[in-house]
Amino acid sequence: MRRALVVGNWKMNGTRDSISELLRALVPAVSHGINGVDIVVCPPSPYLTVVADAIKGCEIVLGAQNAWCENGGAYTGEVAPGMLVDCRARYVILGHSERRQQLAETDELIAQKFVAAQREGLIPILCVGETLAQRDDGHAEATVSGQINAVLTVAGVAAFERAIIAYEPVWAIGTGCSASAQEAQQMHAFIRTLIAGHDEEVAGAVQLLYGGSVNPGNAAELFEQADIDGGLVGGASLDAAAFIEICNSV
Ligand code: G3P
Repeated sequence: MRRALVVGNWKMNGTRDSISELLRALVPAVSHGINGVDIVVCPPSPYLTVVADAIKGCEIVLGAQNAWCENGGAYTGEVAPGMLVDCRARYVILGHSERRQQLAETDELIAQKFVAAQREGLIPILCVGETLAQRDDGHAEATVSGQINAVLTVAGVAAFERAIIAYEPVWAIGTGCSASAQEAQQMHAFIRTLIAGHDEEVAGAVQLLYGGSVNPGNAAELFEQADIDGGLVGGASLDAAAFIEICNSV
């Protein structure tokens, strides 16, 4: 049985004060866990240790929003996966569409980052998803399978025993217009079938998260779907009450 997982991606938001205020509301509400849901928060890198200290001893786990594909060296401005482990992060988001689109991250680079992150013991949250144009052209599944196959090629299917896949249709991110539960379930089932083509046991175990305008109003219906194991939440994760309600929707 797959455990439910809700991940808050804070993106490039927050200050030391606002993050402390958010956690003052969040930590007491989830310190003893929420109905079997694993909860992860992913702050901007500068605040990783601040958050790690604030969530110490409670059921929230720390994640990061990115890591480089090498674990050290002349890569000005980048963050090594080992540095995230030093900050007590256990998860790392990789391949977010905002980085694919705005920073031209390729499937190949993301696959290298995935391998480097796992080498340091991190659990990658591999983001995949199509643009509206790709969906309108009937290329949604081809896009997502290409993104996943790029990682399968270098990491192998067994790597997904220690990884998460997050389906985030680009057209649903930050728009307030989530995919319908049926649309999301259809793509999640496609992803699980794709993995099953390599290893049915891994396919049955891998957690698949949905992301893209998850909110307290749609979370329950999304999380009810057979192949949706939780959510990767952006904007709503910056509101403690909304994030707690989403976690309680599982
Ligand atoms: O990584 C999660 C994010 O892309 C979704 O953002 O604001 O649509 O929940 P949002």
